[in-house]
Amino acid sequence: MAGRLSRVCVLGLGSIGLPTAATLASRGVEVIGCDIDPRVVARVNAGKPHVREPDFARLLAAAVQTGRLRAQGEPAEAEAFLIAVPTPVGRDHAPDLSFVDAATRSIAPLLRPGDLVVLESTVPVGTTERIAADLAAARPDLAFPRYGETPPRGAVHIAHCPERVLPGAILRELSANDRVMGGLTPACAEKARALYAMFVTGALFVADCRTAELVKLAENAFRDVNIAFANELAAICERLGVDVWTAIRLANRHPRVAIHRPGVGVGGHCVPVDPWFLIASAPDEARLMRTARTVNDDQPARVAARIAAAASSVRDPVVACFGLTYKADVADLRESPALAVVHALAERGGMELLVCDPWVGALPASLAKYCSVRLVGLEEALARAAVVAFLVPHAAFRGIDPEWLACKRVIDPAGVLAGG
Ligand SMILES: NC(=O)c1ccc[n+]([C@@H]2O[C@H](COP(=O)([O-])OP(=O)(O)OC[C@H]3O[C@@H](n4cnc5c(N)ncnc54)[C@H](O)[C@@H]3O)[C@@H](O)[C@H]2O)c1
Repeated sequence: MAGRLSRVCVLGLGSIGLPTAATLASRGVEVIGCDIDPRVVARVNAGKPHVREPDFARLLAAAVQTGRLRAQGEPAEAEAFLIAVPTPVGRDHAPDLSFVDAATRSIAPLLRPGDLVVLESTVPVGTTERIAADLAAARPDLAFPRYGETPPRGAVHIAHCPERVLPGAILRELSANDRVMGGLTPACAEKARALYAMFVTGALFVADCRTAELVKLAENAFRDVNIAFANELAAICERLGVDVWTAIRLANRHPRVAIHRPGVGVGGHCVPVDPWFLIASAPDEARLMRTARTVNDDQPARVAARIAAAASSVRDPVVACFGLTYKADVADLRESPALAVVHALAERGGMELLVCDPWVGALPASLAKYCSVRLVGLEEALARAAVVAFLVPHAAFRGIDPEWLACKRVIDPAGVLAGG
């Protein structure tokens, strides 16, 4: 059984890496956080979080004040290296692994026999094996494991331990969720388990790295396909004059049915991205996943067309869009389909757009450039708009009195009024 690790280097201090680094520090581990963005390094060393999560500011401040967490622009020697850098897709939806490759290159000179390298970033199947091969090429003086083979003595350990936290509940889920420890070899998985056992109370399941990579991608592809089904059902209900929220509520009373929530599309930088990693690896097989991506990507345009149609029946239309973030009760705008809806309406023109979102302090640059778009409070939005569209089911919108919406045209793809 592998022993306790006392010094860990975390590469990438974003939504995943920074809470993980601070949590490890809170367990008494010396953590060196490394980020290529100097603003991130400066903020972390000042104990100021750039990741907005409940209770996180206190955890980070304590980690920095005790000296257990410090940030810098370069990685440093450690017993374990944890890579949590972005893995986006390019314009053609091809996986962009350039950040993973750069992070891997940066730790190669620091590795010593027996060290652990954990890839936390979500990656296509086969990436963990590839970075092991890259490290082996960069460090011919060290022994590295190979998939399915018994590792030589003193080999570096390499594993993929994907993250599955929910933004808005990252700290709690970081510890409480079950995790998959995907080792290049069983010894690698065991070494990874020793690291995660220091802060995870959920179950730690050992698997091989290919399986761990696939499990993570399957989780998000499952959600994407199911949301596409719900969005398609919403479109069918609209055509047939059936309330989709009532239909879903009743269908879900079936003991083996659990239809997801429809909405304005799929956002964030995981669910709309990760299925492409599977589609790119097996394009002939991943037909359903590809269709689901198309259905969900088309959803903002569909919703914008519905809102525009409602606005066209009003003179000098003022349209209030409730919600801009990519999902309810978070401040994150990344890949937000609600933002895409407002953007499509602004491009179309012919209406004044009032955006109301309690989680957003200022309009993003992509909307601020339109003089027809303003960020306003709830009262102004309700007082002035003739057309109201609920794009994100923020809790703050649930208290809106339906009487305030009387005489307005209401479009509610987010199901705020349906209580969905
Ligand atoms: N955010 C989530 O909810 C979530 C959930 C599960 C999995 N993931 C996955 O975790 C990974 C990280 O996501 P995130 O949300 O933390 O990203 P992020 O964009 O919030 O942060 C990534 C950080 O990595 C830094 N970085 C880039 N290249 C680097 C390098 N070579 N060395 C050091 N730092 C570098 C960036 O400057 C940035 O600060 C991605 O693969 C993502 O898909 C994210």
